[in-house]
Amino acid sequence: MFDASQSVANVNVTATKSVPKGATAVAYAVATKGTVARQLGVNRAGLAANNFDGKVGQMLAVPNGEGVAYAVGVGDPDSIDLAAVRTAAANFARAASKHAHLAINLADLGHLDAKAAGHAVAEGALLGSYRYVGLKNDESGGAKLTDLTLVAADKRSKGVRQGADDGVVVARAAALARELANTPPTYLNAKDIALKAVEIAAATGLDVEVFNKDQLTQMGCGGMIGVNQGSTEPPRMVKLSYSPRNPTGHLAMVGKGVMYDSGGISLKPSNPDHIAMKMDMSGAAAVLSAMSALKALKCKAKVTAWLMCTDNMPSGSALKLGDVLTMRNGKTVEIHNTDAEGRLVLADGLSLAVEDKPDGIVDIATLTGSALRALGTEIACLLGTNQDFVDQVKNSSAEVDEPVWQLPMETRRYRKLLDSAVADMRNIGGPYAATITASIFLTEFTGDVPYAHLDIAGPMENQADSGVQAKGASGFGTRLLIDLACNFTPPAEGAAHTA
Ligand code: BES
Ligand code: MN
Ligand code: ZN
Repeated sequence: MFDASQSVANVNVTATKSVPKGATAVAYAVATKGTVARQLGVNRAGLAANNFDGKVGQMLAVPNGEGVAYAVGVGDPDSIDLAAVRTAAANFARAASKHAHLAINLADLGHLDAKAAGHAVAEGALLGSYRYVGLKNDESGGAKLTDLTLVAADKRSKGVRQGADDGVVVARAAALARELANTPPTYLNAKDIALKAVEIAAATGLDVEVFNKDQLTQMGCGGMIGVNQGSTEPPRMVKLSYSPRNPTGHLAMVGKGVMYDSGGISLKPSNPDHIAMKMDMSGAAAVLSAMSALKALKCKAKVTAWLMCTDNMPSGSALKLGDVLTMRNGKTVEIHNTDAEGRLVLADGLSLAVEDKPDGIVDIATLTGSALRALGTEIACLLGTNQDFVDQVKNSSAEVDEPVWQLPMETRRYRKLLDSAVADMRNIGGPYAATITASIFLTEFTGDVPYAHLDIAGPMENQADSGVQAKGASGFGTRLLIDLACNFTPPAEGAAHTA
């Protein structure tokens, strides 16, 4: 079974006013103008002679004895943004990955809010140090980081420390999502992730309920049962609840947890996309991980989460093309392609979420290859039915630097592509705009509740290390969902933009 230990969770993060003796790699933020910390050991002329002028993305190592100091470029001092600081901290942590104790001097970030700066630096450094070791016998490629010290002047140290505490919570959550999605499918099936969710709920102050196959059948969750039909592993649905006193609103989250997507009878070809299908539970991983952070961050909204977990496998008992499923809300779906399974499991989760009458529902899913083709590997597709709510998602996206782009929910034009001769709808549209037709399908299950949909098929995986991102599963959406929950307000009425 899946091992809970992962590098980021065990790093000791502190804030002090001077660089501690034990720190062997120390970063100094250097802007494009202004003073350069004397402890760096190089002045501005010396930096310039080494092609370092403080621009974002620049980094210069200055060896000193057994340790090393790094000048880390943070750009124009009058317009430093948090994303640049977060990325710079991540790049430093990666460059200094041979060191166990890192320190980061925040002196040159003086005009940023201390708490925001501490948050961005801690989050960035921890995520930049994240590595998936997996099942390699040689663990030497794993992260060495044990201690991270943020150095700030006395009057800012309280803010920096508070921010760092939040940054640690967020980074741990994102690392957990990566760890879950990187784990090979046989090491993390639906039962395993449900057990993991129970463990996490107990540790992070959430209520949890797990539903097995019989219960899902009784509840009329035809999508979950249909997709699971060909698998020897039973499905699990997990409901997590975070209930603060006097909540400011109620947000529901639904995550696609297809533990392995073979395509089913509509079998996928054995190409690299197929190998990545162990990550088809990245949505559920992001939701579970985001939930794990809410209490520690004192989120004021009530949040209810649904993880829809099953494999999608071909076999003698598998779901057939032409079959019709009846979903939790009573609607019927004719199956035209068993590889369009994500929307089937989400349909039941969305139907159940609606029954609780939340103020908004967001789902997150590795839903369509079309989303990957449309926006590439760094940007998620966002669609919704309520523009205020969609805008809240966009704001969170910008805040945490997990990019999204809104596509139109063109129900009026494209709903007809889902028409079926024998059921309320079919499970695929035509060959074009599959991200949009998939979203329209999902709105059949969201009732009147303001709804936003994140298709993360594109950014679910990184091919290389870069900034806060590590090669492998990205954990994309975890930080966005945390920010969304923590800033959630019941959306104002108003349809989402269409074409
Ligand atoms: N999990 C896949 C989508 C996917 C593809 C995610 C590539 C990440 C990378 C999803 O279940 C799927 O198979 N979608 C099909 C839908 C089609 C049959 C309408 C697709 O996009 O090809
Ligand atoms: Mn599929
Ligand atoms: Zn899938």
